[in-house]
Amino acid sequence: MKPTILVTGATSGLGLSHSIFLSYQGYDVIGIARSVPSLEELEERYRKDHRKYKIKNGKVIAGKSTLPADIESNLSEKLELIRFYKCDITSTESMEELFNSIDKLDVLVNNAGFGLFGSALQLSLEKEREQFEVNVIGQLEMVKRSLPLLMKSNQAKIINTASLAAYYGIPFQGHYSASKAAIHKLSESLRLELKPTGIQVCTLDPGDINTPFNSSSVRQTTGQGADMLDLEGLMSSLEYLPLPSYLDDKTKEAIKRNEREVWRNIVKNLVISPPPLVVSRKLEKIIRKRKCKVHYKVGSRFQVIAISAAQRLFTDNFANWLMGKFYGL
Ligand SMILES: NC(=O)c1ccc[n+]([C@@H]2O[C@H](COP(=O)([O-])OP(=O)(O)OC[C@H]3O[C@@H](n4cnc5c(N)ncnc54)[C@H](OP(=O)(O)O)[C@@H]3O)[C@@H](O)[C@H]2O)c1
Repeated sequence: MKPTILVTGATSGLGLSHSIFLSYQGYDVIGIARSVPSLEELEERYRKDHRKYKIKNGKVIAGKSTLPADIESNLSEKLELIRFYKCDITSTESMEELFNSIDKLDVLVNNAGFGLFGSALQLSLEKEREQFEVNVIGQLEMVKRSLPLLMKSNQAKIINTASLAAYYGIPFQGHYSASKAAIHKLSESLRLELKPTGIQVCTLDPGDINTPFNSSSVRQTTGQGADMLDLEGLMSSLEYLPLPSYLDDKTKEAIKRNEREVWRNIVKNLVISPPPLVVSRKLEKIIRKRKCKVHYKVGSRFQVIAISAAQRLFTDNFANWLMGKFYGL
């Protein structure tokens, strides 16, 4: 029988791409998110993520599709096969409803998550809680609720989405980096704890991938929206983030300058990054593996090699300094 795979955050970016690719590969896919748009809208989102983009005079120029012809031609058919459910991974009732509706599960792909932008000097306790509520507690709750079904499978896997940010903290994305580092550690422990059950646990750690991730970071941080291709809109959207009054003007200006520079680099990097399909292909390979490793890095060759090299060769101080340089500090 086809393995059943539950993908969280299945209506956008990586989760949408995973759901389509896995459906295309013949898996039985259940996709969840807080709201489920029409299949036409999902198709449009997926196509938008899978175009080649370049930046010219501060504007994004869209190029050709990066999708293979066989996926392009079967897209709506494959989307129709995905079983979408509305579910908020921070709501107990919502998760209860979901698990009352499904009776088979072989692989949990814990993917739903978002990023905040801003420093600890700027973000409220409420925002900080939301960050950990979704990225950490939500993922963990999904694991706990999936276990009874996974126990019945002889090929069970839990694949938790972390990030390359789990290895080294990104400036002005400390909360996000910390949430992903927490997923690393929880997954490492869980993997050892679940050994007698036969359920395998690993993390999937993408680098920059071109998805609406930055738009959603802006929405989550400020409550306002900006399209993933609107560089100016994205760059100006975080200007308002206030700094505390106990800082003198010179210090405030220096922090603001750094913040602008980092955000500018983050926005520019994402849109020219690899498309989500790169990560979905890696995910499918992990699902097929008899034994999975603890962590899988995926993304641009440069980012994956740089992080691997930093882990093996660099001191923590040097790696921290390099992270600053990469983001323009
Ligand atoms: N893109 C990157 O460069 C990158 C790099 C490393 C790691 N990642 C990680 O990859 C994952 C997916 O990111 P993405 O780039 O695909 O972001 P995205 O395009 O913003 O998609 C996020 C998905 O998560 C869903 N979601 C958010 N909160 C949820 C909740 N409480 N309950 C259920 N679903 C929820 C969203 O749908 P609703 O809003 O409708 O719920 C959406 O489907 C995240 O964990 C992210 O941290 C991304």
